[in-house]
Amino acid sequence: MERKEILVADKITKIYGIGTKTLYEALHEVSLTMYEGEFVCIMGPSGAGKSTFINNLSTIDIPTKGKVFINGKEVRVMSEGEIGKFRYENLGFIFQEFNLLDSLTIFENIAVPLTLANVDKKEITKRVEEVAKKLDVAQTLDKYPNECSGGQRQRVAICRALVTNPKLIVADEPTGNLDSKNSHEILSLFKELNEKEGVSILMVTHDSKIASYSSKLLYIKDGIIDRTIEREGLSQKEYFYKIVDINSSESQELFE
Ligand SMILES: Nc1ncnc2c1ncn2[C@@H]1O[C@H](COP(=O)(O)OP(=O)(O)O)[C@@H](O)[C@H]1O
Ligand SMILES: [Mg+2]
Repeated sequence: MERKEILVADKITKIYGIGTKTLYEALHEVSLTMYEGEFVCIMGPSGAGKSTFINNLSTIDIPTKGKVFINGKEVRVMSEGEIGKFRYENLGFIFQEFNLLDSLTIFENIAVPLTLANVDKKEITKRVEEVAKKLDVAQTLDKYPNECSGGQRQRVAICRALVTNPKLIVADEPTGNLDSKNSHEILSLFKELNEKEGVSILMVTHDSKIASYSSKLLYIKDGIIDRTIEREGLSQKEYFYKIVDINSSESQELFE
């Protein structure tokens, strides 16, 4: 079966600090082709460029050099309006810091992408309630973010990402602040979306166990993809051990 390319990065380089004295190359000519229905995890040491990579891949930021294509369209040549529409129709973001708006209720926070797209009020209520129930935050809808626990805020951020039924979920350590039971639940939900609904997932994680559910792992180090491992043909256990191995050889180097 022909696989559809959903996301293509062609030699993207990101240099921070342009216009200042301190230039910093956070990504160096990184390429990736992601196909529809894939579940790709990104790992690597802190400061390696993981967040930079997914932000530049997903229209949050624009690479200094190189091209990004989403659904065959080059992002750089799209207008702001087109990018906005594109995000609404295709992408669900979950950021490391949740990025909830403190002055909005949980309901309003989850509804943001729908409100921006002028979705009908009744439809908004229906969709927000549905997703809030799924992620077990229905009881918080009238509260404000500062009245909720860290775990609840994270679930709310996930609700906001899922409320548009995205084709691609881009997540930066989405379970970083959850305990293992909660992060397992979120992972099961992602897996279900991936396997049953064909949603593609691009996720940064520190957790080898979580990464072992992916179909492909990119190990980023010093702004490049240092290693790639494909799950194909491996049992989850074999794949998990390969992932642990990559991460531990990294820690070994610290002692050499
Ligand atoms: N806005 C920025 N301005 C300057 N440097 C940045 C900026 N964002 C990230 N960096 C630097 O780029 C490198 C990669 O950062 P990041 O992508 O956040 O790494 P990771 O997510 O892997 O921890 C780090 O050295 C970081 O300090
Ligand atoms: Mg990061």
